[in-house]
Amino acid sequence: MGINEEPLMWVEKYRPKNLDEVIGLHDIVESLKAFMRNPKTMPHLMLTGVPGTGKTTIALAIAHELYGKNWRNFTLELNASDERGIDTVRDRIKDFSRYSRSGFGDIPFALIILDESDQMTGPAQTALRRIMEIGSRTSRFILICNQSSKIIEPIQSRCAIFRFSRVDRQAMKEHLQEIAKKEKVELQPEAAERIVEYSEGDLRHAINALQTAAAYKEGVVDEKTVSLVIGEASPIQVQKMIRKALYGDFMESRKTMYEIMGSYGFSGSEIIRQIQRELFKMSDITPEQKADLSNIIGEYDYRLTQGANSDIQLSALLAQFAKYGKDIEENYAAK
Ligand SMILES: Nc1ncnc2c1ncn2[C@@H]1O[C@H](COP(=O)(O)OP(=O)(O)OP(=O)(O)O)[C@@H](O)[C@H]1O
Ligand SMILES: [Mg+2]
Repeated sequence: MGINEEPLMWVEKYRPKNLDEVIGLHDIVESLKAFMRNPKTMPHLMLTGVPGTGKTTIALAIAHELYGKNWRNFTLELNASDERGIDTVRDRIKDFSRYSRSGFGDIPFALIILDESDQMTGPAQTALRRIMEIGSRTSRFILICNQSSKIIEPIQSRCAIFRFSRVDRQAMKEHLQEIAKKEKVELQPEAAERIVEYSEGDLRHAINALQTAAAYKEGVVDEKTVSLVIGEASPIQVQKMIRKALYGDFMESRKTMYEIMGSYGFSGSEIIRQIQRELFKMSDITPEQKADLSNIIGEYDYRLTQGANSDIQLSALLAQFAKYGKDIEENYAAK
């Protein structure tokens, strides 16, 4: 990347540069800011939790806050799963202790960011523990991981642990709208909703989906484009299809099926997978009914894997649903 070039990936382009730009995570940001106001008080940190929620972003933002634009001189960024990781850390800490006489700006320590630290082997972790002890005068560690339970206890107990949970849905939607606005793309509300639903609190996933969808159609991201990008039909449409079959309107249900197939070009198995998933989300169907319907789905899924024709098998599946719905109704009436 040239000096004046903007990154092409929106996840990078819109990665917060400082703690104030971080979305959600209010409590974490406030505690970290308290450390930043008086950096001498900053302990080793462990940032742990689900992917795409801002852990690496925050570690880099801390480096910026501490050292300003010279942050790279005083920060060692390492991927801990890299085999040479531990030796590099040891060597660099020696370098840093030499620096420490002249200082790291106003800050009394250098920063070592170890990403993916839960991938470190046991022996590497034991070595790291020693290094943390020896180096603590001249360096602070920020360990990043997805599962803190994979880090040995003596390391955990040396760190202030911050747990990152899924990014709040509303905050995520607003953030996507903001990016869309800056990119001069109209992000329709239902489309934003779908992206948020799909990305399950992972902001990286969400921003990537938005960027891919925006590349499909000039200037606008609608729900259909998002569906195409994430490879899933609209859940509402799939549920509509299931309900129509169960409540006796087989022809309408089949029509919806053709709409779904036609507009997205999904294969029969992809649609079956979604029927299965949506079925379990539907609150108007009892668990027993879900089990029965799952059996039917399984049978048609099998037929499709054997190379049967998709349209015909899906129609037959909906017909079975319709029959099942009718049986329930008759049983109910007979009681
Ligand atoms: N809290 C957040 N505020 C603003 N942007 C965010 C936030 N979390 C994630 N992002 C966006 O998602 C991208 C990825 O975030 P980041 O690299 O910090 O995730 P991570 O938590 O380190 O994930 P992983 O566990 O997969 O390494 C960032 O570049 C940024 O665009
Ligand atoms: Mg990361």
